[in-house]
Order: sequence, then structure tokens, then C-alpha cells
Amino acid sequence: PFNLAAALLLAYLLGSLSGSLMLGRLRGVDIRTQGSGNAGGTNAFRTQGWRFALGVVLVDVGKGALAVWLARQLQIGWQMELLVVLATVAGHVWPLFHGFRGGKGAATLVGGLAVIWPFSLPWLIGLWLAVLIATGYVGLATVLASWMLLGLVLVGGQADQPVWLGFALAVGLLISFTHRSNLQRLATGSEHRFQRARLVHR
Ligand code: G3P
Repeated sequence: PFNLAAALLLAYLLGSLSGSLMLGRLRGVDIRTQGSGNAGGTNAFRTQGWRFALGVVLVDVGKGALAVWLARQLQIGWQMELLVVLATVAGHVWPLFHGFRGGKGAATLVGGLAVIWPFSLPWLIGLWLAVLIATGYVGLATVLASWMLLGLVLVGGQADQPVWLGFALAVGLLISFTHRSNLQRLATGSEHRFQRARLVHR
């Protein structure tokens, strides 16, 4: 129980190290005041350009992977490692070091999954890219990919494991919740669209 508590605390603290807000401080910008107002890779790209965004994504994916790797050293078992992924994402979304106003958790989740279930990544990223190319909506792509994880669990051999099912369900719900403003804007037709990402035009 001590190792588990330590792993979860460490994960939350690591998650709280927001790539966009830390790198933003270096250049004197808080991207929460710009674009979509989100402290994540997409808004970093939208408002600061691809170099800055790449740094942001590396930090946010990296901390997601690092948290699970550290948890593994503490030997808490794979079920609890899934909880560690959620704790890291929670840290990113509600960061201790940035007034509890962080990002939406997708990159951090990808980092955790890269260690815990790399098999899922090509599928999730494939769907994400397909939706982005078809629609230009990053938020929509992320929400759909987050629910695809549940689909992968169902067909990928873990369907009889309640812990995996619960994890995938929690991921879908959490990512949908953090993207609620995107879903609202999609419903009203005011969501920002990356026109240049769209290879399919109607
Ligand atoms: O994960 C963030 C992305 O899916 C949406 O970001 O800035 O368009 O709200 P944003």
C-alpha cells in the first residue's frame, strides 16, 4: 500500500508538470489566454507554431510514459499501473503547479498507453489521423479515439477483465468530459477547424 500511494502521488505530481505551461513560461506566454484556451499540444501548435508544440507534446507524452515506468519499478502490479495512468492524466488536467487549470489529457494518456499497451497505439493514432484528415477537428478525433480504446479492449482479448473494461470506460468518459467545450462548439458549428489538415474536401 505504501508503494501504491507513492506511485499514485508521483504520477499526479508528474502529470502536474504541464509541457505547454512550463515551456510557455520560458517564452513568457500562457497559452490559456490564447486560441482555445487549452494548455495542450493542439493549442500550442495553433498559437505558437510547430516547434513549440513538438516540445509540448514530448513533455506531455514523456511524463505519461515516465510515470508508468516509475510505477513499474515499485512493483504495484498491472492493475494499479492503469490507475497510475489515470492519476497522471488527472495531474495534467488539474495540475497542482498551475492553479488546477491544465489540458485535456490526450498526450499524457498516449504516453501511459505506450508503456502499458503499445499494441493499442497504431489503432488509436490511425483513427485519430483519419478523423483529423476527414474533418479538420482535432477535439473530435481525440474523443472518438478515446472511445476506440474501449472497442480495442473488447476485441483485443481483455474483454473478460473488469479492470481493463473499467479503465477504458473511465478513459472515454474522462476525455469526453475534458473535451466538453469542443463537443459544445461542434454542436453549434463554432469549433475551430484545421483546414490544412483536411485532405478530404466536400
Ligand atoms: O487534446 C486536445 C485536443 O483534442 C483539442 O484541443 O485546443 O482544440 O481544445 P483544443
